[in-house]
Amino acid sequence: MNALHRDLARLVAEAERQGLARAEQDPYRLRFHLMPPVGWMNDPNGLCRCGDWYHVFYQYGPFDSTGGVKHWGHYRSRDLVQWEQLPPLLYPDQTWDLHGVYSGSALVEDGVMYLYYTGNVKHPGDFDYVTEGRGHNTALAVCRDGVTAQSNELLLENRDYPAGLTCHVRDPKVFAYDGAYYMVQGARTLENRGELLVFESRDKRHWTHINTITTPDAFGYMWECPDLFELNGQWVAVCSPQGVEHGRDTFQNVYSCGYFPLDGDFRSAYTLGAYREMDTGFDFYAPQTFLDGERRLLIGWMGMPDAPYENPTVAYGWQHAMTVPCRCDWQNGRMLRYPAAELEALRRGPVEAGDAAVFDLELTDCAKGGLVIRDSAVLEWGQGEMTLSFTGGGAGRTVRHAKVGEVRALRILADTSSLEIFVNHGESVLTTRYYPRPDARGVRFTGKGKVRLWEMGSLTIKR
Ligand code: FRU
Repeated sequence: MNALHRDLARLVAEAERQGLARAEQDPYRLRFHLMPPVGWMNDPNGLCRCGDWYHVFYQYGPFDSTGGVKHWGHYRSRDLVQWEQLPPLLYPDQTWDLHGVYSGSALVEDGVMYLYYTGNVKHPGDFDYVTEGRGHNTALAVCRDGVTAQSNELLLENRDYPAGLTCHVRDPKVFAYDGAYYMVQGARTLENRGELLVFESRDKRHWTHINTITTPDAFGYMWECPDLFELNGQWVAVCSPQGVEHGRDTFQNVYSCGYFPLDGDFRSAYTLGAYREMDTGFDFYAPQTFLDGERRLLIGWMGMPDAPYENPTVAYGWQHAMTVPCRCDWQNGRMLRYPAAELEALRRGPVEAGDAAVFDLELTDCAKGGLVIRDSAVLEWGQGEMTLSFTGGGAGRTVRHAKVGEVRALRILADTSSLEIFVNHGESVLTTRYYPRPDARGVRFTGKGKVRLWEMGSLTIKR
């Protein structure tokens, strides 16, 4: 642990000590979602199960609720409901990560977490920071006690990446497969195309670029936060592409987030199937998955970079959250995502529709209909389409259209200032923040359907 690390750790603890009481006065503070104690949160990082513990690291800007230099904030839990907040595990304290410990992932082996991340360095000068002036370094921190890093080393620098790229190469996702280790990274080429770089290693430290995965025609200029995994026999490449042209009911957000089915071998000859967006709400980006025994869990960032809409939580010194953990499955050519069963432990008693505010709702036999939540969010569906809009409380969010097919079932997880809407058991999902009047309650239905509605309790967070 170096002196910079010690100073930063002290400053973060101080910022949290001073800011937490104010953050907790915010009526929009969430109950069953992970948020930063203070300051800013973006991407989930290093998600894993290590022994009995689930670890959720995240991009954390403790000193600035609108961003700031990134650390790896840290929560852990044994059951996804009772959490413990730990000090950040990674601080921007190395020469290769001085301007941010950017996103990355965990590889777990023999009870040890190998944490791969991007060290961001901005060299002083008159640079565009895309084609020059920026170091995007791949680093590895090793954590043997679940709480602190015992070592940190630089593995790859920009000159080690293949030719033809900008300085934007980041977000290593590492996994073991077939007797070797693989790492995928998101990249932006000099021709402004997004792609995924595939590296291979035998020892977790030395990496060779063995393949590049991209579309035949350019699809956006940068692919952030890649993931690559096999799901019920189908390989899936997830990424968050930037620079894809907006349509009426596709790519409506600033940036997209979705997946390609990948056939063939990701290490050599492959083909990518059609890209499908993973969410058509306003606030979903940079998700990451991990294996938990037989199931694959996913957590996304409940936010969107560079969005034109605002979150009033900034007035209370914090911003953004994680989605609930979801289980992923592959069915009929698409990835489904549905809340992990553990969340049902948070269901309290049934609640009347007129009183509901923080709730879990299930609706079936509901091919056509609509609902208004807390005089704020309006959801309408029928004829294959779903629309999400706001009569107030959207904080700049307008309308989103989604092609959802026939609606057979709907599940809505509503927190104080968020909605996660799962259509047909997770075939389509709409995730959004919203800001109804804090005292507003009630869900009003139009159309038919069978409703079950529970009040939702809170996560416990030990600090
Ligand atoms: C995605 C992202 C990543 C990067 C991180 C920095 O939201 O831009 O590509 O590693 O955020 O916080």
